[in-house]
Amino acid sequence: MVFKRNLITAALPYANGPVHIGHLAGVYVPADIYVRYLRLKHRPVLFIGGSDEHGVPVTIRARKEGITVQEVVDRYHNLIKKSFEDFGISFDIYSRTTSSIHHQFASDYFKHLYDNGKFIEQISEQFYDEQTGHFLTDRNIRGECPHCHSLGAYGDQCEKCGSTLSPEELINPYNAETGNPLVKKATKHWYLPLEQHEPWLREWILENHKEWRSNVYGQCKSWLDGGLRPRAVTRDLDWGIPVPVEGAEGKVLYVWFDAPIGYISNTKELCDQHPELGSWETWWKDPETRLIHFIGKDNIVFHCIVFPAMLKAHGDYILPDNVPSNEFLNLEGDKISTSRNWAVWLNEYLVDMPGKQDVLRYVLTANAPETKDNDFTWKDYQARNNNELVAIFGNFVNRAMKLTEKYFEGKVPTATELTDYDRQTLEDFCHVKERVETLLEEFKFRDAQKEAMELARIGNKYLAETEPWKLAKTDMERVGTILNLSLQISANLAIAFEPFLPFSAEKLRGMLNMQSFDWDQLGQTDLLPAGHQLGESVLLFEKIEDEVIQKQIDRLERIKKENEQKEQEEILKNWRPDPIKADTSIDEFDKTDIRVGTVIACEKVKKSDKLLRLTIDDGMADTRSEGQPYRTILSGIALSYPNPEVLVGKQILFIANFPPRKMMGIESQGMVLSAVDANGKLVVTSLTAPVKNGAQVG
Ligand code: 2FM
Ligand code: ZN
Repeated sequence: MVFKRNLITAALPYANGPVHIGHLAGVYVPADIYVRYLRLKHRPVLFIGGSDEHGVPVTIRARKEGITVQEVVDRYHNLIKKSFEDFGISFDIYSRTTSSIHHQFASDYFKHLYDNGKFIEQISEQFYDEQTGHFLTDRNIRGECPHCHSLGAYGDQCEKCGSTLSPEELINPYNAETGNPLVKKATKHWYLPLEQHEPWLREWILENHKEWRSNVYGQCKSWLDGGLRPRAVTRDLDWGIPVPVEGAEGKVLYVWFDAPIGYISNTKELCDQHPELGSWETWWKDPETRLIHFIGKDNIVFHCIVFPAMLKAHGDYILPDNVPSNEFLNLEGDKISTSRNWAVWLNEYLVDMPGKQDVLRYVLTANAPETKDNDFTWKDYQARNNNELVAIFGNFVNRAMKLTEKYFEGKVPTATELTDYDRQTLEDFCHVKERVETLLEEFKFRDAQKEAMELARIGNKYLAETEPWKLAKTDMERVGTILNLSLQISANLAIAFEPFLPFSAEKLRGMLNMQSFDWDQLGQTDLLPAGHQLGESVLLFEKIEDEVIQKQIDRLERIKKENEQKEQEEILKNWRPDPIKADTSIDEFDKTDIRVGTVIACEKVKKSDKLLRLTIDDGMADTRSEGQPYRTILSGIALSYPNPEVLVGKQILFIANFPPRKMMGIESQGMVLSAVDANGKLVVTSLTAPVKNGAQVG
């Protein structure tokens, strides 16, 4: 199938915070590389983006910051839009889902499906706060964990014992924000019956799109094999697009219903403003349009199953031809997290690293999480900048420019006779085009950039081996040939890197005094005619010093410490004592013989992580055989006492009448009493004033 036009979309980020390197690496840089490549090939293309401004995340942010939801989305939409502009993400439109065009479009879309009987209606019981009059989402419901009985477990998970929960399982559920108890209340919603779409989805994906990335294909397959179920497309919320149906007051479209429609409404907004682009309907309905969605892995099911089902249910629309989805990028070994501030924010990056957009683009593509999760580290960032961009790319271009300035007054010299080595070099770099192109067409951006870098390596090696600076005194003709060839390679670099490093490619074109290049000129060796006057040479990349990197690492370490502290505080705040055990009696209690003793020695038990060996003066030396004046107790408190010697000299409480037990080859004669703190730390019990060792507790 030959497509006439390309419609490229990049996931609409939630406007609930700034964008970070994970967004850039996962979605926006690859999409931008692809779009720039298509534009350089003169293929008709539209690149559609925008902010996702509905859903629960923006409302949570608003409550946290104490501002209105509209203020949140205005703030972050503008911030995100600017970050994308700053990083050269070349959207044809970057709009938002709160726009009136989108509201109207999404509402009409729903109505069309509704009128054509494409939904089913279902009534279900949901948790409801009678005092605020709100239905609650899982995350906003808390209560007692049915497994570990800790209080404050969430409707989807207990963070104390790690169990996955559903809100129904919580004991005494309450509204996480107001603390109000919740009741169950019936509510009506509209569902897209995905199971009805299963047969064609199976064939369309599993049979006809085997070329999709294996992570995408695999996720789709497991969803399809698991059986599709109806999916609610409406919610009881007061932020979103009202459901345009009678009797649906107080309900809005589910954010994942309206957001992908944003791709269409944003295209409409763009085409309405620019009639020369043709009608939005041609872009979305003509089978000769190739639709491609760039997304992160958490969005796969929505773009490969739910949205296509919505498009199909409507009729008329084309389906995506491919959905290149990346895995996740981690930061210094930990998952990037907006709420934990564990991220490199694009707006902050540019304050610390002004003008270094391309360095980040380069590093993120070199480490792109295309097939598996990957890690961003500042050390790697520095190494790639210093050892690749500066030492290879920049160094090569800089030498070619400077030598031409020095020996030929900045004019491209004539290439005369070529040596075998010259010919070999030319041949090497002619293949680069084909390889980069094939890789780009297959969405293998990481390898494509590596191949493009091959050009700079070839050039660098060529200059290092021909050493024109040494020939300047004896053979200017040869120097001219070498520099001509080097400048042609530089011009090729300007083309090959235009999709990857647009700012540097532009700088390089300026240095070469060339307005523009076409992709199809890549691989040519006569891009710069002899006698062509070059522009002024500037440094393409500069070395990044250790201090600059250390500053970033220090920032992350600070954040890590702050997070640990906050988590501790959170745990302590949410801690509740365990429920009181069933009734007992004094007789029962009396059976346990608790005594006081002084710790004489305390050390770790060899080959055990958890056990400490306590030597205790229990005041009963005369009851033991000679040479055994003390009692030995093994206690599983080692993790709580990294320095066991702090217990030496302390009077502690222990159970004296447990039968002796052997552990790790040592006999333990009792049990030390300790209390468990909220974070699981064990604290050994003691007395408020000294007493005689061996005294009974009761
Ligand atoms: O995961 C997200 O950030 C979503 N806001 C992506 C939406 S993509 C599309 F459907 F608009
Ligand atoms: Zn639990």
